[in-house]
Amino acid sequence: TIEFNLLLCVAYLLGSISFAVLLARLRHQPDPRSFGSRNPGASNMLRLGNRPLALATLLGDMGKGALVVWLARHEGLEPVQQAWVGLAAVIGHILPLYHRFQGGKGVATAAGVLLLLSWPAAAVAALAWLGAFAIRSIASLASLVACVVLLPWLAWHSPELQIPVSLMVLIILLRHRLNIGRLLAGTENRFRS
Ligand code: G3P
Repeated sequence: TIEFNLLLCVAYLLGSISFAVLLARLRHQPDPRSFGSRNPGASNMLRLGNRPLALATLLGDMGKGALVVWLARHEGLEPVQQAWVGLAAVIGHILPLYHRFQGGKGVATAAGVLLLLSWPAAAVAALAWLGAFAIRSIASLASLVACVVLLPWLAWHSPELQIPVSLMVLIILLRHRLNIGRLLAGTENRFRS
């Protein structure tokens, strides 16, 4: 339908808003694509040593993901269509129109999408993320673990969402290929408390 296609476009455009880039600019901090992992996301913002800014990035990127699913639901779209709209926001975050297509890895945006699609699935993924992070203090590893845990959970509890959400997970995993290389080489960035 026209409405569905329109929402896909709106989701891509909203997803393209990079809170890491915008907040860094607003707070006169260096562009997150120029330091650390060079990723415009909450984890890399934390490498600035600025927790409120990292938290604001996380909430902003999650918020845009949640917002587009909320819009799709509000317009009466089916859950699977809501998931496709969410995927469009994640693609916007990864390949943003306004930031020379140099976006992030999609984890926070996907978390916001998932929160509205299925809060139990979001809770399972969040617990997996936090558990893995508590053990190793590596953000990328935690994200990969959360992705891997999410798939069987979804297959069991929300099979109708499986195709768009699996695609979302696949894109996020591909986006972590450099992180995976560093993890295998034992050189991935760790956070110390
Ligand atoms: O959420 C992104 C995270 O999985 C990895 O971020 O900055 O360590 O590459 P970063």
